[in-house]
Order: sequence, then structure tokens, then C-alpha cells
Amino acid sequence: MTELNIIQLGLGKVGQELLRQVAALWEQDRATHLNYIGLADSSGLLLDTNGFYLDDLHDALAVKTANGRLDQAAIGDIDGPIVTNQLISLLRAARIKATIVDLTADTANLPLLAAARAAGHDLVFANKAPLAVDYASYCAIAPTLPSEDAPTGWGRVRHEATVGAGLPVISTLENVLASGDQIKRIEASVSGTLGYICAALDQGLSFSAALRRAHDLGYTEPDPRDDLNGIDAARKALILARRMGLPMELSQVGVDSLIPAGLESTSLDEFWAKLPQVDETYRVKLDAAQKRGNVLRHVALIEDERASVGLREVAADSPLGRLRGSDSIFIWHTVRYSNSPLIVQGPGAGPQVTAAGVLADILGLG
Ligand SMILES: NC(=O)c1ccc[n+]([C@@H]2O[C@H](COP(=O)([O-])OP(=O)(O)OC[C@H]3O[C@@H](n4cnc5c(N)ncnc54)[C@H](OP(=O)(O)O)[C@@H]3O)[C@@H](O)[C@H]2O)c1
Repeated sequence: MTELNIIQLGLGKVGQELLRQVAALWEQDRATHLNYIGLADSSGLLLDTNGFYLDDLHDALAVKTANGRLDQAAIGDIDGPIVTNQLISLLRAARIKATIVDLTADTANLPLLAAARAAGHDLVFANKAPLAVDYASYCAIAPTLPSEDAPTGWGRVRHEATVGAGLPVISTLENVLASGDQIKRIEASVSGTLGYICAALDQGLSFSAALRRAHDLGYTEPDPRDDLNGIDAARKALILARRMGLPMELSQVGVDSLIPAGLESTSLDEFWAKLPQVDETYRVKLDAAQKRGNVLRHVALIEDERASVGLREVAADSPLGRLRGSDSIFIWHTVRYSNSPLIVQGPGAGPQVTAAGVLADILGLG
């Protein structure tokens, strides 16, 4: 197996879990072709072109699980952090081809990643943000379509965990397209949080009680409006649409926000206090749907070169209608899967499955 020189940007929930999974493999003398040469958090990047030892990964984990900063940590023999934009020249000088793994949550490293890719380094993402920027910037870090050749010398790109965490969503899409099939429509429930709320409505919970329960279970963002606004779901729909070859912008994805009107920018306390005002509206909507044999689901739809996310009525006995809990589901209607669609379903979020998706991507590059 080819040795892979890993530089991991981000040591939050997913980043720490990835280190745990790699450390566990190393302890069994497996995945020893993974050579960790860089670790970064928001305080900077620690680089050791000889590679970290298992103890170094444990040291980094100890610092980050205690909410510490890498620049204050004693890890290996490294002098201190470098700024990330020095990275490419350092790698060039050391004649190293790297695999840069983006587990951060914004686009701050986008210029670095684009330059690294053009210089031949491979990229692996769990971070959706850089894949949902304007189309021209996206192209610099985008994986190539089956119909395209990558520009000579550019690195490879993997991003399985950006949509559906560890579920084989991107790989299924790639296989369908690479084998010459044509996708007619993708329907999906891509938000575990919004999926959970919809399924809880079926069980008789009010909208406000369902959201409160999802919040108490840790399924929502600290401010649940960051889930209800549908932006995260729209980013996932955009990533899928772009991988189907549509040169689409995020602003072209139709998004129905579920934030009640007037509560978009109130304090969080006022939001929770006033939320029950919408319960009756949802009850009436669901009653009407159920009379037609339907239920409400939060659906991402890609069809006819358009993408949208929002609340839809679907048949109660359909795969989407039967969805329970916080699972995600992806349904491909293609020319070959026409009578019965191709379906991938399971947990679509959580650090363990997300890190596992990232690790599978990394190992696939070896
Ligand atoms: N959690 C999930 O279930 C899940 C599922 C699918 C995809 N994802 C995606 O995976 C990514 C990571 O998620 P997470 O839950 O681990 O997020 P997180 O806990 O917020 O961690 C983000 C990490 O990025 C670091 N960081 C911020 N700016 C940086 C920079 N400029 N350079 C290097 N590191 C930087 C942060 O540093 P500090 O530690 O110093 O703050 C932190 O360690 C996100 O994009 C998320 O959307 C997550």
C-alpha cells in the first residue's frame, strides 16, 4: 500500500474521533501506511515531516478533549505551530505528497486547499462549507465528474462524509454515474434533526414538543433555528446536485425555512417561549395529510436540473413515510433503477460514523 502523509485540519468532535479510530488501528498494527505529519486546530498547524508517533496522537487527543489549544500543547518534538499558508512551500521543500483532511466547519482554509490540490496533494472533506461556495471557487477543489479528466498533476478529492456521514451516498452516486446509468430524481431526508421532528409529529407530539425533545437529545444545534432554516440540508442537496454535473449555486436551491415567521432573530428564550404558537398550524397540516394517507417529511429533491429542500407530504407507506428517528435516507430513481429505486438508509450524522466515513475515504486513497 502507498504511504499516505496525513495532515488533519480540525480537532473537534469528528477530528478527535478520527484520531481515536486511527490510534485504535495502529495499536493493532493496522493502517500503518497512514503517516500523520500534521495536525491543526484554530490555533495553528503542528507539522512533523517525519510523522507522529502513536503517543503524539494520544497527547493531541488529551489536549483537545480537555478543550485545550494545540499551540499550548507539548506534542512530539515540534517547536510550535506554523500558519497554514506556509504549508505548501514546506511540503514542496520536503518533497512530500500529502493527504489534507478538512474537518473544520468553515471556508477559512479554502485558498490553501485549492492551492494544495493544484500542487498535487489529495483532499478529503467532512466539511461541507468549501463544497457549497460559489461554483467557480468550488471547481478548484471539486472532485472530477466521470465525464471529465482532472487537470494534469491535480490531487484527488474525496468527500463521502459531507452528505450522510458514513453512509455510502457519494460512492453510490459515483458508481451509478460511472456505470453509465442516468439519474432521473433523488429524494432524500438529509437532516437527522428535521427527520426526527417529522417522525415525532406522526407519534402525536406537537411541533414545539418534538423540537424540544430533539434539542434535549442533542440532535439540534445549540440554537435550533440553525437546523430549522434548512441551510445545512440545502448545502447537502447542492453537493449532490453538483456531483450530478449541475453547475448550481446555493442560492438556486429552493429552501423552505421552518423557522416560524417573526421568530427568526428573537432571543433564544423568546423563540422557545413563542414556538407553541405554530403547533396548531402543524397539527392541521398533518391531519389533512393523514386523511390522504400521507405524512409530513423534510425532503431534499433533485429533479429536472433543480434542487429544493422543504416540508413535503409523502405517502405514509413509502420509504420516506416509513422513516423513523434521526435516520437519513437517500432514494435514487434512475433509468436502471426505475421500477424499484436504489435506497441507502441509516444514521446520517454523529462523530463516530462521520469519522468512519472520512477514514474509509483516506484508506481508499492508499
Ligand atoms: N458532527 C457530525 O455529526 C458531522 C457529520 C457530518 C459532517 N460534519 C462536518 O464535519 C466538520 C467537523 O465537525 P465537528 O462536529 O467536529 O466540528 P467542531 O467540533 O466545531 O470542530 C471544528 C474544528 O475545526 C477547528 N478549526 C477551526 N478553524 C480552523 C482553521 N482555520 N484551521 C484548522 N482548524 C480549524 C476547530 O479548532 P478549535 O478546536 O481550536 O476550536 C475545531 O477543532 C464540520 O464541517 C461538520 O459540518 C459533522
